[in-house]
Amino acid sequence: MRANWTEERGEAGGAIENFARIRDACGAVGVRGPGSVEPMPNTMRALLTGTGSLRLGTVPIPVPEPGQLLVRTAAVSLNNADASADASSGGVEQVAGYEFSGEVVGGDDTLLGQRVMGTAPAAFAEFVAVDRRHVVPVPEQLAPAAAAALPVALFTEHGALTVAGAEPGQTVLVTAGSSALGLIGIQVARVLGAARVLATTRTAGKRALLERVGADLALCADGADLADEVLEATHSAGVDVVLDHIGGAMVDVAIGSAAPDGVVVSVGRLGGAEATIDLFGLARRRVRLLSVSYGFTPPEVIGDRLAALAPVVLPAVADGRIAAVIDSVHPFGDAAAALDRLRGGAAEGKVVLTLT
Ligand SMILES: NC(=O)c1ccc[n+]([C@@H]2O[C@H](COP(=O)([O-])OP(=O)(O)OC[C@H]3O[C@@H](n4cnc5c(N)ncnc54)[C@H](OP(=O)(O)O)[C@@H]3O)[C@@H](O)[C@H]2O)c1
Repeated sequence: MRANWTEERGEAGGAIENFARIRDACGAVGVRGPGSVEPMPNTMRALLTGTGSLRLGTVPIPVPEPGQLLVRTAAVSLNNADASADASSGGVEQVAGYEFSGEVVGGDDTLLGQRVMGTAPAAFAEFVAVDRRHVVPVPEQLAPAAAAALPVALFTEHGALTVAGAEPGQTVLVTAGSSALGLIGIQVARVLGAARVLATTRTAGKRALLERVGADLALCADGADLADEVLEATHSAGVDVVLDHIGGAMVDVAIGSAAPDGVVVSVGRLGGAEATIDLFGLARRRVRLLSVSYGFTPPEVIGDRLAALAPVVLPAVADGRIAAVIDSVHPFGDAAAALDRLRGGAAEGKVVLTLT
């Protein structure tokens, strides 16, 4: 895997300045000439958080600032953070959401009509103003719902494998492999050349799903026994890289599952944000514990992570080796039901809202 992303970072050169090159890499289409854009209304429908659910409201259309694009959204998808957005809003209503797909309608005449997918605050609206570095072109043939389901997971999981320094031929363990991120992490690891991908779920019925997206072995375990199962499955070698989406007590288990000189990347905290770890366990195996976090990452680094998808990951999306896993698609106006689906914990993959 190392060769791939050394190349990627060299080629990407940061952000998405060379949009055309990235567009070509993934076979995207859809650029219309300037002048074909319809007159813009002043207000738009948006989903507001802050009252315990997602409420449909009317707000002004954002005006893109320098460095931003204005995108007319076609679909948006829910993330774990949307389930708890009320708690961080302080009771003040604001436009919800982080992830979308749509079409550029402003901010850069050369990109008008380009289909893009990306991430921005206030994404759950008919229009979103987005840092131009935070979108990538939508590969040809990819439907709006699938495009909306991918960007956060793609750049987070690819970013996690990148910071881990993962290399082709290695073994990767994905905890909570059935989470929306984990399902993409399994596929990205495969595409980057992992020799073996192990993934976990607490639900026996989801093992088939993990195997369907590319896991060689789906482990149904959620505690200390997981490290034993991983060591047994790897002939006591342990795994080279762990992408951990659970946190809490799983962090120590992940360290115990790692090979000597292995890397554990903390990606998610589904099981809690606090962990007690055996520092002797870390030292004995010379394991490195790292983390990636969208919320604490500077905009330019998010731009670099999205640009780094161009050479390998976006072509894999374009040819179907990486596919969105969609739990359900709801009309934009049925957002409350979609949020209930996410909060209920039964979703398998992404919950998506469509606007067209
Ligand atoms: N680092 C970043 O930049 C970044 C970006 C986005 C999200 N995240 C974080 O990544 C994590 C995953 O997000 P997501 O949206 O992909 O999750 P998700 O789709 O909501 O994952 C839900 C699934 O995870 C499993 N799960 C839930 N709680 C668990 C627990 N306590 N222990 C073990 N498994 C559990 C369950 O599957 P089973 O039935 O198989 O147990 C559940 O169906 C979250 O913590 C999220 O905040 C991080």
